[in-house]
Amino acid sequence: MDKLLIQGGVSLKGEIRIAGAKNSALPILAATLLTHDTVKVCNLPHLYDITTMIELMGCLGVEPIIDEKLNVEINSSSIKHFNAPYELVKTMRASILVLGPLLTRYGQAEVALPGGCAIGSRPVNLHISALQAMGADITVENGYIKASVKGKLKGAHIFMDLVTVTGTENVMMAATLAEGQTIIENAAREPEVVDLANCLVAMGADISGQGGDTIVINGVDELHGCTYAVMPDRIETGTYLIAAAATRGRIKVKDTRPDILESVLSKLEQAGAEIKIGENWIELDMHGQRPRAVSLRTAPYPAFPTDMQAQFTALNCVAKGSGSITETVFENRFMHVHEMNRMGASIRVEGNTVIVDGVEALKGAPVMATDLRASASLIIAGLVSENETTVDRIYHIDRGYECIEEKLQLLGAKIRRIPS
Ligand code: UD1
Repeated sequence: MDKLLIQGGVSLKGEIRIAGAKNSALPILAATLLTHDTVKVCNLPHLYDITTMIELMGCLGVEPIIDEKLNVEINSSSIKHFNAPYELVKTMRASILVLGPLLTRYGQAEVALPGGCAIGSRPVNLHISALQAMGADITVENGYIKASVKGKLKGAHIFMDLVTVTGTENVMMAATLAEGQTIIENAAREPEVVDLANCLVAMGADISGQGGDTIVINGVDELHGCTYAVMPDRIETGTYLIAAAATRGRIKVKDTRPDILESVLSKLEQAGAEIKIGENWIELDMHGQRPRAVSLRTAPYPAFPTDMQAQFTALNCVAKGSGSITETVFENRFMHVHEMNRMGASIRVEGNTVIVDGVEALKGAPVMATDLRASASLIIAGLVSENETTVDRIYHIDRGYECIEEKLQLLGAKIRRIPS
């Protein structure tokens, strides 16, 4: 298993480009199953999760054509199977996103039930009950969700008990080809949901309200092909900005979208960063100063994203003062805390809150990544450590960050991959 070796103590400086958003790219790839025409998806990030989704397409009998820029052309008319096997679903929970498209387009789908993961039990009951409300016959047998519908799905009025991102996406995709109108209330407002909706509209879907908490979809007879470029990754953007702030650095991130990062940029300003923005870039400058600790609470968009709390915990570890971070979206998302304490941090967990008392610097240590965003936070912890840190199990980070060590090297970090 590859490891990352980090020699800490360098302030990040320089410019990098941000990749396409993983969490938009995955549902958009699944959406290509909704038409027999060719859909060209551009600005895909180079990530394991994207490769897994393309592999899943292959299992269904679809043969994506990939060019050298990793633009993918998908024509799903060659589809032969309707089954997402456990071997793929267990490595990527977002495989559940093929359930809605397969069911609405082909009347059948079998998707392995995603298990729990490091950050909590993560059930998919809301995906299932919404599709049942649309007329699907669904059973869960032998670890598989088996779904079918006679004729077409029927539009329905769906109230989501909890805000769920992939749940909203699955139902929205299913509703595009259903009979009549579907209304999703308490829908996720995440920019990635809007990006998927915009792609579906480019394919001929009738959707309104995306970005708000009520989405209305009028089913159409069929969708058609299109070319669509995935939006920039806001979590990747935020992660590099936090890393720069923690290391007292100055960086510019390009090909990104400041308008969808307001809650994160405001916390960085509270931490003492000077932030400048343009239409598609963000510049952060700490003027060499140590960050101030910040307090925050995660919640669905537009509030502070759960995918960025671990990185802010790393920043608080070396900040002036104390900050508390409360996680309200997932039940068990503090796996990084123990590793950071082993690096000399002063963090205590009280229920779903961590309280961090900042120290001047951390001390490098061998640490283990447990999930995608926790891995990013341990890399930031390594960057603000006095000596050497090795981060093990970095397959987690390769799922969601494109060429992370190369981008950090461009910013001056002393980091390298040690192949196993
Ligand atoms: C998506 C993101 C993930 C992000 C998360 C929250 C993708 C591919 N992943 O994950 O990076 O951390 O949103 O912003 O887009 N829940 C249920 N029943 C369900 C569905 C969800 O109880 O049927 C619960 C979950 O356990 C969790 C909460 O709802 O506590 C939110 O989860 P959800 O928004 O569904 O997360 P994902 O879509 O899996």
